[in-house]
Amino acid sequence: MTAFVHQPRLRHAWHAVLRTVDVTGVRPVAVRVCGEDLVAWRTADGAVAVAPDRCPHREAPLSLGAMVGGRLECAYHGWSFGAGGRCELVPASGPDAAIPPRAHLACVRSQERYGLVWVCLDEPDGDLPSVPEDADPTFRRIVQSVDRWSAAATRMVDNFNDVAHFPWVHAGTFGSAAERRVAPVALEQMGDWYGWRYEVTAANDGLAGTATGQAASTVDRRMTTGFHLPFLVRSTIEYPATGLHHALLLVTTPVDDERSLFTFVVWRNDDFSVAADEVTAFDRAIGAEDKAMLERVPGTLPLDA
Ligand code: FES
Ligand code: CO
Repeated sequence: MTAFVHQPRLRHAWHAVLRTVDVTGVRPVAVRVCGEDLVAWRTADGAVAVAPDRCPHREAPLSLGAMVGGRLECAYHGWSFGAGGRCELVPASGPDAAIPPRAHLACVRSQERYGLVWVCLDEPDGDLPSVPEDADPTFRRIVQSVDRWSAAATRMVDNFNDVAHFPWVHAGTFGSAAERRVAPVALEQMGDWYGWRYEVTAANDGLAGTATGQAASTVDRRMTTGFHLPFLVRSTIEYPATGLHHALLLVTTPVDDERSLFTFVVWRNDDFSVAADEVTAFDRAIGAEDKAMLERVPGTLPLDA
């Protein structure tokens, strides 16, 4: 059976692999997406470059190499690659020798957006969905480091769209006060996102109080959840009592059929007084609850269920 991650459609989608701050001109970084091993680095002009993690010469992983003089240098025979993946030096041939055309790297499309580096393995079938808060100066943006989950991307994105698990999986964070019965939802287009609006009464002890900025034992959340194919989910939370808006972009990237990368980005219109790490501690605790469940659920999501 063909691996799920080899579905052609997934090669035309944008997938986040790293935070922008994780790609430096100091050393190349290995990433794996949809079963493809890639290497990412920052070129001398400050741009991110991503290519197959395989040297055109003898197929050594380029991620074992080093950044030397703004170029990516292979660790095996020292071939050196500049902007756009162009091979600029074959040391064994000397600096004046012509570079064979096949020595250049076939770079993969990449872009930096929302504090993340995104790659697309083929012609993109569209742009990334818009997150309106990102252009609004009253919001600050907090980008979490990329985590690895032993779970299928399909299961993760299903979970991030699922309201019915709140009182069970999230009983330790916000879910203990959540209604077990899910009210009917009406799906609607919300900008680039397709989803629904709902209200939740959430427990507000401990870390939650820091995140909401309120002292009450429960708080009302006005929420939206929106989905964008194949693996992006945007949740917005509004606390009517204070006018605080907290928007989350949940980003899942398939590594292979049963392993994924996960990160989330928060936008928040607070007074920026609480440290970013404290603001997101509650979201991280919620994510850990989902991860603990999903890492026990094997295989990809059976769509006929
Ligand atoms: Fe990279 Fe030879 S394998 S230079
Ligand atoms: Co959850």
